[in-house]
Amino acid sequence: MTSKKSKILILGFGTVGQGFFDLFTRKKELLGLQDFSISEIVDMKYGHITNPGRNLVNEIATGRTFQQKDVISTIKESDADIVCEFTWLNLKTAEPAYTHVKTALELGKHVITTNKGPPALKYKELTELARRKGVKFLMKGTVMAGTPSFNLLDLLPGAEVKSVRGIMNGTTNYILTSMEEGKNFSVALKEAQELGYAEADPTNDVDGFDTASKITIISHILGWNHEFGSLKIEGIRNVTPEQAREKTKLIAYADKTSAYVRPTKLARDDILSGVSGVMNAIEIETDTMGKIYSMGPGAGKIQTAQAALTDLVSISRG
Ligand SMILES: NC(=O)c1ccc[n+]([C@@H]2O[C@H](COP(=O)([O-])OP(=O)(O)OC[C@H]3O[C@@H](n4cnc5c(N)ncnc54)[C@H](OP(=O)(O)O)[C@@H]3O)[C@@H](O)[C@H]2O)c1
Repeated sequence: MTSKKSKILILGFGTVGQGFFDLFTRKKELLGLQDFSISEIVDMKYGHITNPGRNLVNEIATGRTFQQKDVISTIKESDADIVCEFTWLNLKTAEPAYTHVKTALELGKHVITTNKGPPALKYKELTELARRKGVKFLMKGTVMAGTPSFNLLDLLPGAEVKSVRGIMNGTTNYILTSMEEGKNFSVALKEAQELGYAEADPTNDVDGFDTASKITIISHILGWNHEFGSLKIEGIRNVTPEQAREKTKLIAYADKTSAYVRPTKLARDDILSGVSGVMNAIEIETDTMGKIYSMGPGAGKIQTAQAALTDLVSISRG
């Protein structure tokens, strides 16, 4: 553990930003992170906050706002050495998160992100930049929130990954699970929207783009480098209730030579066929262990904050 004092700048103070603030504040002593502090936050709605007190989340809930400040100037002027990027997802250009991450890395700051845009679309450029600057660019929260996924490989030194397969989007898995009861796609989607599992514009989830961004990120981490733009992607709009009952799941798959996202009928004894509701699961096939599995939540305020905390601990260990 490094003994140097570290300051954290948070970009975007919505669900994940507030979840991370809460979790970090509660767990920092337990984790031996007394020398780490959240020194600054910048957000479009709440403004620029410096040296926030423990009560910040309650204060903003009662309407308190702070002076606005441009995000790029904040990154440039900040003395924080760790930047947490928790702003909007954009799977077309990765902006504004891409510029946020790039600016921070160029200044020699570590970056933790839960935003899939920059790692899915600009992985090679940003990891190369981080390597040149001698800092970390970490992204656990982009795949299955805090549930162990690609980071399981840190526990398997030398293991060669043959393939990765998984259910990586809780919204579509929830819809398919509820279609098993006979509901058609539109009814199941509407229900998922009413429960807050699906967004008003469900395209990223139901058309498979969110899942595709995750398998792209895994593929880059494993050095297979399948590009998001060249992935074969099929979503769940055309799945029938009968197919859902026969255990058709939205499967993301990658190996060295291919990667895709598509609804796939699973055998009854396939472990992934038993993954229901908003749960996510991943199967990693390695040369030393055969197939290993991890299952758990793939989203949520504290669950995603856990991923960012996992990355922070990794930075603290050097
Ligand atoms: N929530 C989850 O379960 C989950 C799970 C995995 C990954 N993620 C990813 O994590 C990121 C954050 O998600 P979230 O759920 O926290 O989203 P959110 O609740 O919408 O929060 C995003 C926050 O960032 C602010 N923001 C957006 N663009 C900004 C900019 N250019 N400058 C300053 N502030 C900006 C937003 O301000 P406004 O309120 O004014 O829009 C909002 O407060 C997203 O990329 C998401 O895809 C989320």
